[in-house]
Amino acid sequence: MPALTQAASYPTTRNGTSTFIRNVALPVHGWFRFPAGFSAEWVRTVVHDHRGELNGGTFLDPFSGVGTAVLAAEEAGVRSLGLEAQPFILRVAKAKLNWYERVEEFADFAERVLTAAKREPAHEPKYPRLIEKCYSEHAIRDLYSLKAAWERLADYSAVSELAWLCLVSILRSCSHVGTAPWQYVLPSQEKAIVARPYDAFASQVNRMIMDMRIRQLQVAEPSAQIRLSDARTCEGIEDQSVGLVVTSPPYANNYDYADATRLEMTFLGEVLDWGDLHEKARKGLVRSCSQHVSTEKTAIEDMLTQLNGIPFEGAIRTVCGQLAEERSNHGGKKQYDVLIAAYFADMLHVWQALRRVCRKNAAVCFVVGDSAPYGVHVPVEEWMGQLAVCVGFKAYRFEKLRDRNTKWKNRKHRVPLQEGCLWVEG
Ligand SMILES: C[S@@+](CC[C@H](N)C(=O)[O-])C[C@H]1O[C@@H](n2cnc3c(N)ncnc32)[C@H](O)[C@@H]1O
Repeated sequence: MPALTQAASYPTTRNGTSTFIRNVALPVHGWFRFPAGFSAEWVRTVVHDHRGELNGGTFLDPFSGVGTAVLAAEEAGVRSLGLEAQPFILRVAKAKLNWYERVEEFADFAERVLTAAKREPAHEPKYPRLIEKCYSEHAIRDLYSLKAAWERLADYSAVSELAWLCLVSILRSCSHVGTAPWQYVLPSQEKAIVARPYDAFASQVNRMIMDMRIRQLQVAEPSAQIRLSDARTCEGIEDQSVGLVVTSPPYANNYDYADATRLEMTFLGEVLDWGDLHEKARKGLVRSCSQHVSTEKTAIEDMLTQLNGIPFEGAIRTVCGQLAEERSNHGGKKQYDVLIAAYFADMLHVWQALRRVCRKNAAVCFVVGDSAPYGVHVPVEEWMGQLAVCVGFKAYRFEKLRDRNTKWKNRKHRVPLQEGCLWVEG
């Protein structure tokens, strides 16, 4: 096993920001609000600073989410590839990549959807419970009319995918209950401002038209790609073809990327219940929430055995033991011990896959945060760096960007948490 060393050669992050909020106003990036994303401007800076390592190789984001990093790399004139395993999130990202399509064609398609929706006959009044909880009768009628009109006109061409994105991106603003900013739908919370579906659709179309025009002037040519694929295998990517990786994996903090889009997937008729959500959205993801491991009945010992021989083998067993003990003090509900073991077993596969596809001198940046389920601290950035070195990367260094302790704050502990960049040298 290689000795653990500290990478020293990377410049620090200039603007120190890694959050999605700055993207909301940016052309194309702001088309779908995805709070788990990071800042496009920051990614552009990283690409700029690492042209040396890229040296004609591919820019890869193995956890591409709604495509922030690959779009930012495209802006910097770099060929980029993203992998995403959650089908709804992938479809959003792929739709965004259609920004270079003919604006008039999109405008015409969207106009036809809106006109047809307004002529739609009334629907039968049976909707999924979640939808009935989240929308007024009028909003449901108009949203389902837009959906029916889109379905009739859709040919899965680039412009029809742009119109699909337009529809799904207005769902939260048209709900009168708490649906933002994170995944949980809170039917008991009322919103002060609620958009009307036809107005929201028309205004989103206008925004997208304007953004497409701006980006078509700003970006020389489309070069970004995103595939439905698993970061744990990086299947289909050539060995040693990647020069730079900038990504943000799921954190081990119980955030559920399937539940995050339950509202949208339910509206689209893609999921009916909890079991469906697991099969269609969660199953293929890195295990980073307790729902995932409990639904799959993951065996902890199998996971820990996969981590035999790594430097934190003993430490992770101790943490998992503490988490199992804590569970009994919390009504025995959350299997955080299994979650942490499964998370690192999955991340080991991610690092092995990255070692295969990365060139010898590649640079890798993971935006990561640590976590403290039940108040037991898990040094994610440290263990992640150790995994990277274990599979053959040279060195790692962690650069803190900010403190965070929001997720666990309301529970009964106050473990200080941090978020930052884990820089790994090829
Ligand atoms: C923190 S988010 C990334 C957000 C992204 N940086 C952006 O700006 O949109 C992590 C993403 O990883 C995806 N994901 C989880 N497991 C995956 C896997 N095994 N392979 C590929 N993507 C995965 C999740 O669905 C989620 O979209």
